[in-house]
Amino acid sequence: MSLAFDTENQSVDGTERSMGLNAFRPVPRISIQAFCETDAVARQISRACEDRRMAKTHAQLHMGGLERAVELFQTVPTPNLILLETSAAPRDTLQSLSALSEVCDPSTKVVVIGHFNDVWLYRELIRNGISEYMVAPIDLSDIIGVIGSLFVDPEAKPLGSSIAFIGAKGGVGASTVAHNIAWAISSLFKAEVVIADMDLPYGTANINFDQDPAQGIAEAVFSPERIDDVYLDRLLAQCAENLSLLAAPSTLDRVFDFRDDSFAHLIDVAQRSVPHVVLDVPHSWNGWTRTTLSRADEVVIVASPELANLRNTKNLLDTLKQLRPNDAPPRLILNQVGVPKRPEIAPLDFCSPLGILPMATIPFEPALFGSAANNGRMLAETDAANPIVQMINEMAHILTGRITLKPKKKPGLSAVFSKLKRKK
Ligand SMILES: Nc1ncnc2c1ncn2[C@@H]1O[C@H](COP(=O)(O)OP(=O)(O)OP(=O)(O)O)[C@@H](O)[C@H]1O
Ligand SMILES: [Mg+2]
Repeated sequence: MSLAFDTENQSVDGTERSMGLNAFRPVPRISIQAFCETDAVARQISRACEDRRMAKTHAQLHMGGLERAVELFQTVPTPNLILLETSAAPRDTLQSLSALSEVCDPSTKVVVIGHFNDVWLYRELIRNGISEYMVAPIDLSDIIGVIGSLFVDPEAKPLGSSIAFIGAKGGVGASTVAHNIAWAISSLFKAEVVIADMDLPYGTANINFDQDPAQGIAEAVFSPERIDDVYLDRLLAQCAENLSLLAAPSTLDRVFDFRDDSFAHLIDVAQRSVPHVVLDVPHSWNGWTRTTLSRADEVVIVASPELANLRNTKNLLDTLKQLRPNDAPPRLILNQVGVPKRPEIAPLDFCSPLGILPMATIPFEPALFGSAANNGRMLAETDAANPIVQMINEMAHILTGRITLKPKKKPGLSAVFSKLKRKK
């Protein structure tokens, strides 16, 4: 009998895109103290604490196991959760836990990580108020899973996914691509989508969707205490049957300086309200853009094939790898490829140093994009038969997990793969 959780996400395969962790909801704002005896368990707890799903928690890791815990809590109040590793034999474990119970607040939950797969011990621990017993070895998904099962409301509605788009440089088409993919998700799958235009001074979603709402994202972000699903609903402008927009004011009446987590609650509420939230993140790097990109379920980088884009894409990929150590790399879209007379880096050469393939390579088509933008229409409404519309639709499938991106048998992509392999 397995005393740890039965979850489909137990093993973390580095090659899997979501690593199974996307099934877990973010853990609420709780305090955690972990006491480990072995490096293996400490490493997994430390990885779990760095995960974006644990971003709101306040966690501290100590070596020294139960003894250290009892010593510490003589003088310090106990947190919401104690993770306790013990390699002691079952009877000794029970005995030594009684010392902890004397210093532990009754509201504190305790999870024991042991090294004995013992049913008797499990029953005794649960009978004595221990919340869960896990048997080492454990991995970070076991830890995030157990914490979620203790602190995430089981009645909570499913959480929508968030997809953040950012340009590697200004003007590369990140917003246009984000809006068109959002529109495609809403119309192809009849799924509710909210677009948040996070470019408050210059956002173009209002132009692209021909909307001029009186209120929008500024109201939400400047009065965070008011944000709930009802208030959010009032701020949304309906753009299409299943698509609504949290529009930017697109004015310079005031300056827009935000704290690192100013958008976090708004995005949480939106994710609780609809299955897909598309975040149109401006091309800038500050506390709140970094927080938004760190916490999104998917990040999409839009880049144009020239040198500054390549450098910035590389920097974004490297930095996001550190900020999202347990997530797959961001997706890449090459856009505005083939601008006449512009010296460009060939797509193969652009991707080679990045080590990822583009999800799509969109040609420069000023007539199509210009007329869509000028008329406040989506590309599909402007020229449904255009191959770019097919690319947008394919990306809508990929980003909603309906199809996985595999190297196609086309000469272009297989050539990229062999080239990437050769360069390693
Ligand atoms: N593939 C393309 N071919 C031609 N024009 C394009 C293409 N993609 C985007 N554009 C045009 O490029 C311009 C800039 O696009 P957009 O505003 O989406 O870029 P952005 O990366 O969001 O810019 P910003 O840095 O201002 O946020 C728009 O006029 C858009 O219509
Ligand atoms: Mg933009």
